[in-house]
Amino acid sequence: MNHTIVLVKPALLKSLQNLQSVSTVVVLRRKVRFLRNRILRTSVSRKSPIRKNQFLISKQFLSGELEQIQQSRTIERAGYYLSRLQKSLTSVKTAAINDLNLRRWKEYDEVLTDSLWILKKRDSSGGHSAWYWGNFIPQIPRQLMLRYTKKGEWILDPFAGSGTTLLECIRLGRNGLGIELSPSVAKRAQSALHSIPPHANSTVEIDVGDSTKMDFSKPLKRRGTDSAQLVILHPPYHDIIRFSKRRTDLSNAGSTRHFLELLGKVVDNSLKVLDRGRFLALVIGDKYNKREWIPLGFLAMNEVMKRDCILKSIVVKNFDQTTGKRKQGALWRYRALAGGFYVFKHEYIFIFQKK
Ligand SMILES: C[S@@+](CC[C@H](N)C(=O)[O-])C[C@H]1O[C@@H](n2cnc3c(N)ncnc32)[C@H](O)[C@@H]1O
Repeated sequence: MNHTIVLVKPALLKSLQNLQSVSTVVVLRRKVRFLRNRILRTSVSRKSPIRKNQFLISKQFLSGELEQIQQSRTIERAGYYLSRLQKSLTSVKTAAINDLNLRRWKEYDEVLTDSLWILKKRDSSGGHSAWYWGNFIPQIPRQLMLRYTKKGEWILDPFAGSGTTLLECIRLGRNGLGIELSPSVAKRAQSALHSIPPHANSTVEIDVGDSTKMDFSKPLKRRGTDSAQLVILHPPYHDIIRFSKRRTDLSNAGSTRHFLELLGKVVDNSLKVLDRGRFLALVIGDKYNKREWIPLGFLAMNEVMKRDCILKSIVVKNFDQTTGKRKQGALWRYRALAGGFYVFKHEYIFIFQKK
């Protein structure tokens, strides 16, 4: 919520109720203009704690709603907008899969709904230090959790790496279980999780293990739950980065086909613990091999589509280039012009819903 202000709820509701009894558009406009100006003058910052009869609201949202009432041509139309605003202040409407209040959907500026994500800057707050080569930016799990989970639900991340998903779980009050093949990476991720203040109601942990073979219900049960409500998969993009020398590491798969087989096993294991109707997100990019573009993203997407889920969205996200590649920008441009290809600038987030 941007530019939130603190208002006294009963007073605002009373003002709105009084507006309902106005019988001419001219008078209504004057009264709404007066109320709107008063709200616009309300200070944005708040220092003291919110009292019982007070509440937080986006100044932009409230001002916009009042402006719409003010601009209505008929008293009936104005009454409709007024009732809608009253409802948004007195009742909550949420979908079964998240905490977004649909009565106040205009306030969620942060939540993305388009399929093209241009995320400019990595969020480096809240314990994220980007020490791990091959991590994703925190905004990815954050967006997914805001859309597909409620507070207190469980997120499973079978390729946990540095624990980016898990840190976001803490910040958003969700529970998270991460599985990571490399013990040293898991250990460092665990200490990052302890570096930020815990959330009172969330359990967030990382286990060492091979996600191609793991029965995720066991570690989940140990934490007191039978299932997860969101799965976030961020596997190696095959062998673009070799994460370890371990045979079971997906980045060491001998061929694209073998990589997809291993990924399929992780998807199977994940779907076993994912609740029906809930979501699985796969974050992956393509690769280049012997002067040929390998559409790893779409191949991986097909692998998931063979399972019991439907494809809900394909998100294309701008790719955060490594510093090395950025420095070699001119060289890559030359190579692209000479070699007849385009330089990678995007990756995918495939979003599936379990049937
Ligand atoms: C792309 S990285 C994930 C990065 C993570 N999202 C982050 O922000 O740090 C993929 C991770 O999968 C791990 N991995 C590879 N094969 C695995 C397997 N079979 N089971 C569990 N983890 C595996 C790698 O060690 C690596 O840390």
